[in-house]
Amino acid sequence: MPGEAAAPPLIVGNWKMHGRVGDLEGIRRLGAALASHPSTAAVVICPPATLLFQLSQAIQGTALACGGQTCHPEPQGAYTGEISAGMLRDAGAAHVILGHSERRTGCGETDEQVAARAQAAASANLAPIICVGETLAERLGDRTLDVLRSQVTGSVPRDLRDRPLAVAYEPVWAIGTGQTPTSRDIETAHSAIRISLVSRLGAAGSQVRVLYGGSVTPGNASEILAVPGVGGLLVGRASLNWREFLEIVRAADAASNRGQTPLPADQPI
Ligand code: PGA
Repeated sequence: MPGEAAAPPLIVGNWKMHGRVGDLEGIRRLGAALASHPSTAAVVICPPATLLFQLSQAIQGTALACGGQTCHPEPQGAYTGEISAGMLRDAGAAHVILGHSERRTGCGETDEQVAARAQAAASANLAPIICVGETLAERLGDRTLDVLRSQVTGSVPRDLRDRPLAVAYEPVWAIGTGQTPTSRDIETAHSAIRISLVSRLGAAGSQVRVLYGGSVTPGNASEILAVPGVGGLLVGRASLNWREFLEIVRAADAASNRGQTPLPADQPI
């Protein structure tokens, strides 16, 4: 809409099962770099749960936020090894990645379970980042858009309308492989996700940031952020090196200065 400010891009670092206490020094340096040259992007680090509390302390007073990598649907109980959304919140998280393909595949998480986790996250005042994406076989079978529609419909609870929420398009075959879809393919996927979000959440679906994830690097971040409909990035490997991650954040700054994140700015982060 003319005159309407673009939403700041959301740049999320997913550390997966990487990171020790010694790695917090890089986060302090990232925080300091963003303090001396503030970013227009919302920047979130999702470390392993063991580091969440210390990382949340290390980023206090900086523009950084942090999040978990999954949460259990129940608030507490006899679930050995699991972590609830409230516990993540208690440890300082504001966000949580849900339904990552490594959890859908490795832990058998279904759309229904992802939706239950998203519901639990919202109840604990965490902003879910719900991941969707096709496998290589689905892509080769020309089923990408059907898979995305059905994952959005199954994983995004209608109750999350008007709650902070992001969806990440992560083609499974692009994660950790160095391969990325073409800009045109990303645009097509994001547009299908947007249509599904609107049919699921009504007008609120047009406000949800849709991120891209899968082999994002400082070298391709600008090009991906320039794709219409891309509202941010979910970064795995390149988020482990704070300098590389900072370069990606700076690419997002340049993109928002060019007005390339088309969503309105009223989505809370
Ligand atoms: P990658 O991981 O950037 O290392 O491909 C992305 C992700 O899995 O979220």
